[in-house]
Amino acid sequence: MMENKTVYLNNQYLPLADAKISVLDRGFLFGDGVYEVIPSYYGKLFHLQDHLQRLENSLSGIRLTNPYSRKQWQAIFAPLLDASKNQYIYLQITRGVAPKRDHSFPEDTAPTVFVMCSDIAPFAGQNTGIKAVTIDDSRWQFCNLKTIALLANILHRQNALDQGSGEAILIKDGTVSEGAASNVFVVIDDILATPPKDNTILPGITRDVIIDIAKQNGMTCREAPISLTQLQTAREIWVTSSTREIVPVIELDGQPVADGKPGPTWRLMNQLFQTYKQSL
Ligand SMILES: Cc1ncc(COP(=O)(O)O)c(C=O)c1O
Repeated sequence: MMENKTVYLNNQYLPLADAKISVLDRGFLFGDGVYEVIPSYYGKLFHLQDHLQRLENSLSGIRLTNPYSRKQWQAIFAPLLDASKNQYIYLQITRGVAPKRDHSFPEDTAPTVFVMCSDIAPFAGQNTGIKAVTIDDSRWQFCNLKTIALLANILHRQNALDQGSGEAILIKDGTVSEGAASNVFVVIDDILATPPKDNTILPGITRDVIIDIAKQNGMTCREAPISLTQLQTAREIWVTSSTREIVPVIELDGQPVADGKPGPTWRLMNQLFQTYKQSL
């Protein structure tokens, strides 16, 4: 049964079951919109300004005006948060309801704005690790934008799940891009590495935090291309995201990663990440 929590839709707070949009909404018809996912630890939004900056980048990437200032966004989120829980804000903005289905941008159409808050569910494999498979990255040229058109990501993730794995690690032209819903880090010769930011990956906020933590703790972290061979021979592989944080990959394409257990660099980084979260 659907949980009937309070959500925000177009200037109104209402029960989830009463939140309805038109079938002519361009999000529904075309996947014409963007979204954000912002973790909240005991009512405190994690790296809020970074998430709102990425939202601004996604909006300008699809030529949509930000309907709210950062202060207004914060005011919208506040009543949805519970200070006793770990949660995440999901927000979505579409190009709104046009009078008819037509590819061209509608004139004078208000965007549809939807916000809800959900509990961060404990994730199996958080500390014990997950299996991953490599899959050819067949997505488009705008992976740096957090758009709601996620069909390729969904198909890649489901393909991994069907093979008994927790994540798909996507390979584009022989190098790692990212996970179906995560960024990828590897440890090779004591050096932490992650693919550089370009239009083939989403610039993950968790990714940035990990790079900062690594630098502050004297670890070498490179933003550099990772070949498929480097991935296959890495001592450690992690996938990172706001809701799952840092997850060790213990098996890749049916082969154990090193000894098939979460590695020491992951243990150290995970500890540093938890300490950093608590310090905020
Ligand atoms: C495709 C993709 N890459 C990377 C990430 C990680 O981004 P963040 O750390 O900001 O959650 C996500 C998050 O869901 C994602 O969907």
